Amino acid sequence: MATDTLLSAILQAVMRGQPRALSDAHYPGWHLAPVTGLLNDPNGFIHFNGRYHLFYQWNALGCQHQHKCWGHWSSADLLQWQHEPLALMPDEAYDRSGCYSGSAVDNNGVLTLIYTGNVKFEDGGRTAWQCLAVQNEAGGFDKLGPVVALPDGYTGHVRDPKVWRHGEHWYMVLGAQDTALQGKVLLLRSEDLQAWQHLGELAGSGLNGLGAAGYMWECPDLFTLGDSTFLICCPQGIAPEAQRFLNAHPSAWLAGDLDYDTARFTHGGFHELDAGFEFYAPQTTLTDDGRRLLVGWMGVPDGEEMHQPTIAHGWIHQMTCVRELGTHNGKLYQRPVAELQALRDKEQRFQGRAADAPAMPARRLELELAGTGGITVDFAHTLRLEWCDDGLRLARRSLVSGEWHYRYWQGAVTQLQILCDHSSVEIFINHGEGVMSSRYFPVHPAAITLIGDTEVAVRYWSLRRCVVE
Ligand code: FRU
Repeated sequence: MATDTLLSAILQAVMRGQPRALSDAHYPGWHLAPVTGLLNDPNGFIHFNGRYHLFYQWNALGCQHQHKCWGHWSSADLLQWQHEPLALMPDEAYDRSGCYSGSAVDNNGVLTLIYTGNVKFEDGGRTAWQCLAVQNEAGGFDKLGPVVALPDGYTGHVRDPKVWRHGEHWYMVLGAQDTALQGKVLLLRSEDLQAWQHLGELAGSGLNGLGAAGYMWECPDLFTLGDSTFLICCPQGIAPEAQRFLNAHPSAWLAGDLDYDTARFTHGGFHELDAGFEFYAPQTTLTDDGRRLLVGWMGVPDGEEMHQPTIAHGWIHQMTCVRELGTHNGKLYQRPVAELQALRDKEQRFQGRAADAPAMPARRLELELAGTGGITVDFAHTLRLEWCDDGLRLARRSLVSGEWHYRYWQGAVTQLQILCDHSSVEIFINHGEGVMSSRYFPVHPAAITLIGDTEVAVRYWSLRRCVVE
């Protein structure tokens, strides 16, 4: 579509769609969501010039995965966000089928985006270019065009550049599919963000002792935390297990050691990053005070997404809350970022038999439970969390068949911190050892109740609304 045509269609879609979306009882009160249309991956998450910037995959024109642009929000405090000018639109030959996911860097004071230009051909084939864009004085972005072409040995599925600085160089990880249809992560190096050298395959199906591990790895991210290097990725096509990797596509982490000189990454096995029904394509950034923050898409492609009821209100999907990453005993921990505590209204407490706890208003709530299990948390009769001796089972009915579906977290649980927004629940387990993120669509006003005879200590807060301006 020509730039002018696309821009006027987006403007009209926003004018018409925003009132409908924002008046939907399921539209989030403090999470980021599209003002109309479809949102998916977080992109370009960065702290730059004193503000956080979060870009996102956005189709303003409808609730399908088409016409992907980069929307853009910024915030000084991770609470109060504001809309920024639309950053990227698919209006060049090299990105005409979508400005796909990517990242942002501070290149000597210039906010620079590295994204995938996706090109689909009429015969069903496709190619991909990794492209640059730099911020202009008006806050928008000027495209500089492709800097990495499709490498030999890979299909057109090469995308989602995540770039970071290490020593004297820029490094990039890229999600890829090789011509044998195996999912891989590629590592590249550059001195100037323009000329890139391929260093090889960092990880993937059949590499580093992994065995068969999927046909395409999307949205890689690599960073060091504590003594380990963590690779986050979304390996499509790995086999579901009885209690893990049950979503249509999972999001996982691997930990190990990266030798930047030889590009060799020795690592252990996959761990699920989030065990809930909706979580995908997370991205991290480093703050000025050294915290590694993560935000994910609270959605999953190819599952039941197109049956979500918000589509009737012209919008679909939201981000997770921003999380701070930590590491303990070799595991990756996630906790809600500390800034979110400013959303809390006055603290309320209960101690005693779980079933005697008061019903709590589900709309915007933070809930902390300390106990040992034997408790069910009922979210508006729409989602149920069963806390057993050996772990958690989260139950929700299929939006298609009405059958119960389950997600699991295995291990002894002593503490839960649950963040609720109008149609989402994020369950942090044992101070961040695990997380389960899920959407649910209750009838409001909805209540959360506890079931069970065991002793529990509860603290809870109503959370204030945070409107994007
Ligand atoms: C992941 C993903 C990415 C791609 C983007 C397109 O959800 O498929 O691989 O860049 O979404 O919107």
